[in-house]
Amino acid sequence: MTSHESRQWDVLVVGDLNADLILAGEVTPQFGQVEKLIDDATLTIGGSAGIFACGAARLGLRVGFVGKVGADGFGRWMIEALSERGIDTSGIVMDPAIKTGLTVILSRGNDRALLTYSGSIAALRFDDIDLRLLPQTRHLHLGSYFLLDALRPDVPALFEAAHAQGVTVSLDTNYDPLEQWNGGLSAALDHVDVFLPNETELCAIAGLTDVESALAALSTQTPLVVVKRGAAGAMARQGDRIICAGSVPVNAIDSTGAGDSFDAGFVSGYLAGWPLERTLRLACACGALSTRAAGGTGAQPTLAEAEAVLSDW
Ligand SMILES: Nc1ncnc2c1ncn2[C@@H]1O[C@H](COP(=O)(O)OP(=O)(O)O)[C@@H](O)[C@H]1O
Ligand SMILES: [Mg+2]
Repeated sequence: MTSHESRQWDVLVVGDLNADLILAGEVTPQFGQVEKLIDDATLTIGGSAGIFACGAARLGLRVGFVGKVGADGFGRWMIEALSERGIDTSGIVMDPAIKTGLTVILSRGNDRALLTYSGSIAALRFDDIDLRLLPQTRHLHLGSYFLLDALRPDVPALFEAAHAQGVTVSLDTNYDPLEQWNGGLSAALDHVDVFLPNETELCAIAGLTDVESALAALSTQTPLVVVKRGAAGAMARQGDRIICAGSVPVNAIDSTGAGDSFDAGFVSGYLAGWPLERTLRLACACGALSTRAAGGTGAQPTLAEAEAVLSDW
C-alpha cells in the first residue's frame, strides 16, 4: 500500500458541482415580461462538494475532485475556477449529453429565494470514477449524498474500496429534497469515519427529535459524528465522548456553504492529527469566517486566518 506521505492528494472530493448565480437587489421578479434592474450579479462555485473542495484547498490541503459537468460554458467555467484554486480536476467528467447544474439565488436584504436545475449532479455514476485514484489520496470526502441519484446505490462500494486502500472517509449528506432520509444510507454509514450532518439532517436521519439522542444513536454506527448548529456552533461525539464548541462571533452576510467550509476545517484538523476539541473549534472558525461574503467560497479562510481566530477566542 502507498504510504500516506507519498500520496498525491490529502483529500479526494466526490460529489456535486454546480454554478451559483447570485442576483442581488431590492426587487421582486414579475411575470408578464416585466424587466427590472438589480444591484449586483455574481457567478460563484456552488455545490456542497465544490465549496468543500475550495475550502480545503484554501486551508492548504492538496485536493483532487471527482464529479460531472456538461460540455457547456458553465461546466468549463467550473473546471477553470477549481483549477485556479490549485484543485486537480482530472477526475471531472464532461458529458456532452447533459447540462451543468445551476442555482439562481435571488438575494434581497436578509432573505433569499433559490431556483435550482440539478442537471449533471444526479448523473455521476460509479463507472465515471477511476478507482485507481484511491491509492493516490489520504482521505475521501463525499458531499450531497441525496442529490447523487446515479451514484447513491454504489456509495457503500466506493467507501469500502477507499478503506481497502487505507483511505479514511467523511460524508456530508446535506438535505434530502425528497425528505425520505434513507436511500440505503445505513449501508454507506457502515463505512464512514467522520459523519458531518447539520442538526436538522441528523435528527431526520436518526428519526429522533432531539440532537443529543440522535447523536447517541448515530455514534453507535460511526466512530465520529459531528453535528453543525448554525450560529450556535457544533457538537461532536466519538464513542461516549461529547465535545461542544460555540460559534465564532462574525458579521454574517451569507451563510451559503458555511457547513461545507466547516467540513473542510474539520477534515483539515482530522488529517493533521489535532485533538478533537481543537479540530471542532477550527471547523467552527472556518464555517463562521466563510459567512463574511456572498457565495460559498468568497470568504473561506486560510489556515493562518482561522488559527488567528482560534487564538483570540
Ligand atoms: N451566522 C453564523 N455565525 C457564526 N457562525 C456560523 C453562522 N452560520 C454558520 N456558522 C458556522 O458554520 C457552521 C456550519 O453552518 P450550518 O449552517 O450549521 O451548516 P449547514 O450549512 O450544513 O446547514 C456552524 O457550525 C457554525 O460554526
Ligand atoms: Mg450542509
